[in-house]
Amino acid sequence: MAADTALVVRDVEGSAAMAACIGLYTEVMGLRPADGGLNPRLLTALQTNGGIVVAAYESGDPARPVGFAYSFLAREPGGELFQFSQLAVVARHLQGRGVGRLLKYAQRDRALAMGLTRIRWSYDPLKTRNAHFNLDVLGGRVSVLKPSMYGDEGFGDDTGEPTDRFLLDWDLKRLPMVQPELPDRAWQPGECLAYGDDLLIAVPALWDLHRTAIGASAATALRTSLRETFTEALTTHVGVSCLRVTDDLAVYRFVPRGTDQEVAS
Ligand SMILES: CC(C)(COP(=O)(O)OP(=O)(O)OC[C@H]1O[C@@H](n2cnc3c(N)ncnc32)[C@H](O)[C@@H]1OP(=O)(O)O)[C@@H](O)C(=O)NCCC(=O)NCCS
Repeated sequence: MAADTALVVRDVEGSAAMAACIGLYTEVMGLRPADGGLNPRLLTALQTNGGIVVAAYESGDPARPVGFAYSFLAREPGGELFQFSQLAVVARHLQGRGVGRLLKYAQRDRALAMGLTRIRWSYDPLKTRNAHFNLDVLGGRVSVLKPSMYGDEGFGDDTGEPTDRFLLDWDLKRLPMVQPELPDRAWQPGECLAYGDDLLIAVPALWDLHRTAIGASAATALRTSLRETFTEALTTHVGVSCLRVTDDLAVYRFVPRGTDQEVAS
């Protein structure tokens, strides 16, 4: 992004603007025709029935989105209403430069204006940059792991991978927690360390590279073992952080349930 280029986040209006967002989504996620996708009619229906459809634009190019997110109104049986955010994508060349958080803040503002205080979404536990964004940058909390949530195999760039997903809740009234220092040690991918009351779980920082380096069967074994470790941790704890400690390794922090309520905004 050029220094003099401002970003604008706004509601997406009209089918041409929605089609441009779908194009961005297809490109960022590496979707193939067989992967299926979105269409402007569905986005319009969601937007006009309690959903939120927002996009980010560079000021000099108001027709070409560089970020896109949408969510819909949801409720668990007997529970409160919230937004379920099905996706957020940022153009590859602008990732890591603040567009994603502006999109999420726009979703938050709109959800709060509807009287909602929570946005939920899901993500692959082994996408550690997403994890860091969701937990440390935004302040979301992971409390559930859904094995193979979207079926046995992922789509787009994740073809061949299972679709394990963490469910993450973003309490819109809570600020992100400042995380304590992690212990300085030689971490092994897959290990779970009890650290005070917390659980620290080490994962490869760049899963796609790691799985290629260790081979398919070792990658499957590591993913399966991490699935079990996360599931066990979530019986007593919630995930609050994922920090990269070396180029190759990131560490999740899980804190005991009920101890992460402080710091209301
Ligand atoms: C996840 C995503 C929406 C975040 O948007 P973003 O514009 O990259 O996020 P921001 O720049 O506001 O925040 C970046 C932070 O998130 C992390 N991050 C997450 N994904 C990242 C990526 N692909 N590239 C760089 N940083 C990324 C960074 O570590 C950074 O943390 P820091 O500020 O402490 O350094 C975006 O990276 C993306 O589109 N990724 C690919 C698609 C995807 O996985 N979407 C989510 C599931 S639908």
